[in-house]
Amino acid sequence: MKKTVPSYETKELREFAEVLRGRRTIELFLQTPVPDELVHEAIEAATWAPNHHVTEPWRFYLLGENTLTQALDLCREIVAAKKGERAGEFKRESWSAKPGWVVVTCRHSDDELLAREDYAACCAATQNFMLYLWKAGVGSKWTTGDIARDARFLDILGIDGEREFVVGLVWYGYPKLTPTQSRKGLSEVMVQLP
Ligand SMILES: Cc1cc2nc3c(=O)[nH]c(=O)nc-3n(C[C@H](O)[C@H](O)[C@H](O)COP(=O)(O)O)c2cc1C
Repeated sequence: MKKTVPSYETKELREFAEVLRGRRTIELFLQTPVPDELVHEAIEAATWAPNHHVTEPWRFYLLGENTLTQALDLCREIVAAKKGERAGEFKRESWSAKPGWVVVTCRHSDDELLAREDYAACCAATQNFMLYLWKAGVGSKWTTGDIARDARFLDILGIDGEREFVVGLVWYGYPKLTPTQSRKGLSEVMVQLP
C-alpha cells in the first residue's frame, strides 16, 4: 500500500520560517520599554533548547539600573584605554541607548566534551531567546565584544569566573531600523551524500 506523506506546506510552517529568516541583528532601538513579562517568557522558552544530559548549564542575568550604570562606566573605561577618552565617552553614550541588557552565561566544565556540549546548548538557548523576542516584535543583538570577556564585567554582575563564562551579552528592544542580510544558497552549504 502506498504511504501518503502528511502535508507540510502549511501557513504555520511558512510563518515559522519567516521568523527564522527574518530575525536580524539590531543596532538601533526605539526607547519604547519592553515588558518584563515578555522577557521572562523568552527566557523560559530559551531553556527548552536541546541540551545533552539536560545539564541546564545556562544562567540569564537581567541588568537593572545600578548594574547597568556600572557596566556603562566599564564600557567607557575599556574603550578609553584603547582609543582615548572621547571615544570612551561616545561609546558609553551609544550603549546607554540599548534598552535591555541580558547576559547569558554557561557553567565551566573540566570535561572537554561536556564543556563543548554545554556551550552549544547555551548558544541554542540564546537563539531561542532572540527568536521568541523577534516573533513578539522585539529585536536583539548578541555580542561577544571586549566587555563580555572582561573579568571586571563578571565582578559587576556578581558572577564567579571560576564557575561560569559569558556566552553573550544580548541587547534587546523594539527596532528603530532593521537591516537586510544575505546568506549563501543551499547548494553552497548542503552536501547530499549517496
Ligand atoms: C556568538 C556571536 C557573537 C557575536 N558577536 C558580535 C559582536 O561582538 N559584534 C557584532 O557586531 N556582532 C556580533 N554578533 C552578531 C553577528 O555579527 C550577526 O549575527 C551577523 O552579522 C549576521 O547578522 P544577522 O544576525 O542579522 O543575521 C555575534 C553573533 C554571534 C552568534
